[in-house]
Amino acid sequence: MSQNIQSVRGMNDILPGEAEFWDVFEETVRSWLKSYGYRPIRLPIVEPTPLFKRAIGEVTDIVEKEMYSFVDSLNGEQLTLRPEGTAGCVRALIQNKLAAQHPQRLYYLGPMFRHERPQKGRYRQFNQVGVESFGFPGPDIDAEQILMGARLWDDLGLEGIRLQLNTLGQAEERASHRAELIAHLEKNADILDEEARRRLYTNPLRILDSKNPLMQEMLAAAPVLFDHLGSASLAHFEGVQQVLRDAGLAYEINRRLVRGLDYYNLTVFEWVTDRLGAQGTVCAGGRYDGLVEQLGGKSTPACGFAMGVERLVALIRDSGGEPALGGIDVYLVHQGEVAARLAPRVAEGLRDRGIDVLFHCGGGSFKSQMKKADVSGANFAVIIGDDEANDGQVTLKPLRASGELQNEQKRVGVDNIADEIMNSFLDGEEA
Ligand code: HAM
Repeated sequence: MSQNIQSVRGMNDILPGEAEFWDVFEETVRSWLKSYGYRPIRLPIVEPTPLFKRAIGEVTDIVEKEMYSFVDSLNGEQLTLRPEGTAGCVRALIQNKLAAQHPQRLYYLGPMFRHERPQKGRYRQFNQVGVESFGFPGPDIDAEQILMGARLWDDLGLEGIRLQLNTLGQAEERASHRAELIAHLEKNADILDEEARRRLYTNPLRILDSKNPLMQEMLAAAPVLFDHLGSASLAHFEGVQQVLRDAGLAYEINRRLVRGLDYYNLTVFEWVTDRLGAQGTVCAGGRYDGLVEQLGGKSTPACGFAMGVERLVALIRDSGGEPALGGIDVYLVHQGEVAARLAPRVAEGLRDRGIDVLFHCGGGSFKSQMKKADVSGANFAVIIGDDEANDGQVTLKPLRASGELQNEQKRVGVDNIADEIMNSFLDGEEA
């Protein structure tokens, strides 16, 4: 017996019922992005593997163990399903010389791929909305991007999403901190776990992010990067906070927030909620002024963030949000040869007037068709039999009107159906 083929673990179907929430979410997001002047960019899902190694960093979870990388057997190219969008966006910026024109505010949305252990809120194919700006060196854009987040949570009706903020300073500042940090970790070598030992000389900053309870006390006593920051970095951080304070936006400074990708400097931030269990970060990002140059472009300041769509849609559903997409207006029932010829024209005529029509396909008795009309959620049935069709008429039956209106069906000339339907919608609104 043949076995049914299942989807790849951690890669999910989004079925009707849930997919409507995604549509509403995407509509809200697009109009929110437009209101801040961000423009869409559409990027490939597959990129050359070296792009991610160089951008995200060789000693990161993503590059070390989470990338879907493969050799294209047709031409030997080393390719990777994108684990995130920033690297590809920067590649596109350089390749198409966008930054030379003027500063850019860009956004993309779509699937990303990471071979992580699937659990609630963590998938192997997941979707991000990514927001990137290029050519703005000051803290104003960092702050704007943070305020954007706050507005979106509001637009989506979400509460309880907290902002965590930190600064990673500049490379020289991190280097001086790194030397002290390594010395501290070496002194405590006996309590370092295996991962920490592996990262001791390659990426010690990431050790600070460890959740291992046995290392927490030692990590709390570790030298902090903040003490190594010079006046320019401090001023930038203060500049961001000033705008947030002026806007009345609450935030928490989390000195251990280091992010899982290597390209960041100065401002980093995460939006977190307690309502999603372990995977509570719904949105994260920061400044990455070195990345454009590192990938071969002209030095260009940059700042951005990305949010996890699955996590936000879960929050929206959890908050009792309903997709505001309208149901269907008309279910079109028809039986007989003449009716079958007229029915498609009637349906198209209604759609010309902006009325949504679910056209009955597959025949069947009037009774069985009407049952389908009842469960379709449509507001009206338009019923066409050969008698009606021969007279150039249809029967219009309200399906959702309450009380005495329920059965009030009437015959209407083919040219008047749309007007009748529009008028009854208007009457309904007035009532
Ligand atoms: P990230 O923190 O790796 O940053 O991912 C951003 C968001 O994507 C996370 O906060 C989370 O909501 C969602 N996410 C990540 N991995 C998964 C997963 N396996 N399943 C479900 N959701 C997930 C970036 O990707 C950066 N490119 C953000 C950025 C843009 N920084 C500057 N510009």
